[in-house]
Amino acid sequence: MYIVFEGIDGAGKSTQIQLLKEWLEANGFRVETLVEPTDSEVGKLIRKFLQHPDANSEQFQKTLGLLFAADRMLIMDKLSDDSKIFISDRSFISSLAYQEPAEWIEVLNKYAKKPDLLLLLDLDVKKSVARTSGEDTFENEAFLTGVKENYLKLSKDFTCEIINANNGVNKVSSDIKKAVAPYLGICPDCIL
Ligand code: TYD
Repeated sequence: MYIVFEGIDGAGKSTQIQLLKEWLEANGFRVETLVEPTDSEVGKLIRKFLQHPDANSEQFQKTLGLLFAADRMLIMDKLSDDSKIFISDRSFISSLAYQEPAEWIEVLNKYAKKPDLLLLLDLDVKKSVARTSGEDTFENEAFLTGVKENYLKLSKDFTCEIINANNGVNKVSSDIKKAVAPYLGICPDCIL
C-alpha cells in the first residue's frame, strides 16, 4: 500500500508520518517512509532552486516541474514491493498543487504511481507562514493560499481523507489513525 501525505508547508507531515509509522509497526505492519524531494543529487539541486527568489516565476516553475518529476522516478521502482506499507512525505500531487501549467505537470508525471490513500493535512495559511522559516520562495501567504485551494480541488480526484491540521499533534495523530484504520482492516477499538 502506498500512503501519501500532502499539505502546505508546515502542515506537520514529517511529525505525523513518524507517529503513523510507529503505530502501524506496533500493529504488525512493515513500513518504509519516503520523502520528496529525495536526498539524491537531483533532490539537492531542487533544494538549491527553491531558495532562488524567482522560483515561482513561470520559467522556473517549468524547470522545477521537470526536476521534481526526475527526482520522483528514482523512488518509483521501490513501490512495487507489496510486502510493505510505503508512507511518503509528498508525491506528484505536490507538483500539481505547486507547479503550473497543469497539463505540463500531468504529462511529466504520467508514470508516477497514484497513491492508494491520500492524507491531506489541511492547515490555515497564516499558521503555515508562522511555522515556516520563509527561506524558500514558496513560503509566502499569497502563494500558499493558491496551493491550499489547489489541494482541496485535487482531493476529489483521489481516495482522500482530509485531516484538520490546525489541532494539536496528538489530536491530529488520532484523527489520522481513525482515517487509516478502515483501509488496513484495523479494528476501531484497537486505536490508542
Ligand atoms: P521541504 O523542505 O520538504 O518542505 P516541507 O518540509 O515544508 O514539505 O521542501 C519541499 C518544497 O518543495 C515545498 O515547498 C513543496 C515544494 N514541492 C513542489 O513545489 N513540488 C513538488 O513536486 C514537491 C515534491 C515539492
